[in-house]
Amino acid sequence: MQIGIIGAGTMGAGIAQVAAQNNEKVFLIDVNPEVLRKASTNLKVTLEKLVAKEKLTKERADEIFSNITFSSDFSVLKPVDLVIEAIVEKLEIKHKVFEQLEGIVSADCVLASNTSSIPIASIGSVLKNPSRIIGIHFFNPAPLMPLVEIIPAVQTDSIIVQKVEQIIGSWGKYACICKDTPGFIVNRVARPFYGEALRIYEEGIADFATIDWAMTHFGGFKMGPFTLMDYIGNDVNYAVTESVFAAFYYDPRFKPSFTQKRHMEAGFYGRKSGRGYYNYAEDVELPAPNQDEVLGQKIFNRIIVMLINEAFDALFMQVASKEAIDIAMMKGVNYPKGLLAWAEELGLPWVLEQLEVLFDEYGEDRYRPNPLLKRMVKK
Ligand code: NAI
Repeated sequence: MQIGIIGAGTMGAGIAQVAAQNNEKVFLIDVNPEVLRKASTNLKVTLEKLVAKEKLTKERADEIFSNITFSSDFSVLKPVDLVIEAIVEKLEIKHKVFEQLEGIVSADCVLASNTSSIPIASIGSVLKNPSRIIGIHFFNPAPLMPLVEIIPAVQTDSIIVQKVEQIIGSWGKYACICKDTPGFIVNRVARPFYGEALRIYEEGIADFATIDWAMTHFGGFKMGPFTLMDYIGNDVNYAVTESVFAAFYYDPRFKPSFTQKRHMEAGFYGRKSGRGYYNYAEDVELPAPNQDEVLGQKIFNRIIVMLINEAFDALFMQVASKEAIDIAMMKGVNYPKGLLAWAEELGLPWVLEQLEVLFDEYGEDRYRPNPLLKRMVKK
């Protein structure tokens, strides 16, 4: 097949590598020739490393590299079967690109966006044939992360969904179909991992290191929330939270945190700026957690039930199937277990009780237990 990818930045270059490794003929387009040069050099280096590690033969690496054409000329996209757009997250610019594309590609070419936060329906609204628009949302780094969320818009033809699911599956990825709702599955369900951790810190219950320890020690998460936010970047993570909050009409469940906002405003982005919640300077030791088991368990319980409540809400609002919601969190953000399966393990009545205690104590809508969870406990 022939695949067009627009935007050769972080995501576009990664997606191009995935497609090329799966023997697709790829056209990687960017308006900035410097970005294209960088994408080409980086891919060469990545492939050389894989050859050095004996994961690929030199011939295979050359073949993968030659599957990609790097170009600034949109007209090379004429023969492609699928275009995945991965340019800046600005609706007006995406609209211009999609309008331009429709004048170049064939009538049956599928048009997809890798957007994280813009509704697919609004991206597709400028197309003459909007039934071929779809969201194909990869995770960073695309060659390593096994999850891809597939998001049909209200305009999308069901044949297009099947076609895309088949292509993404043939690239060895887990394709999870989800509704065109803010944050799709992962960026919605994961919000309490950050938000509740920040809230626990703000209430003075524990410091960053202790909260991180509680989640890795009791939950088996690979990274605690503050370490993860520092890794993602507080600027990026805060922007996602703010956009999900606004997109949900300011539902208090998704309310951003002043602590994170101040860290972002101070330039404490995390690892990339040398300082976030932690100081990453070489001569500075990371703070030690307070390994009080009772406190740790209390922190873990509070964050995990909030995550489970959000997973139930995604299921309740039919954002995706039960299986897709669990797979998405394991394959998209490396959770040790799917949240709905985890809920069964912990016991649904116990989860509900924890939420009811929080809701009763705070009286805040943020802690309201999900109706589906309540119904299931009743049953
Ligand atoms: P990036 O900033 O690394 O790359 C964007 C590229 O698009 C730049 O190289 C830019 O030159 C190019 N570009 C801008 N306007 C263009 C145009 N009109 N035509 C052709 N190329 C153009 O951005 P990144 O991080 O790769 O994000 C791209 C998309 O993927 C966004 O929609 C973002 O929301 C989404 N996304 C990002 C993830 C991430 O972790 N960075 C994860 C999943 C999705």
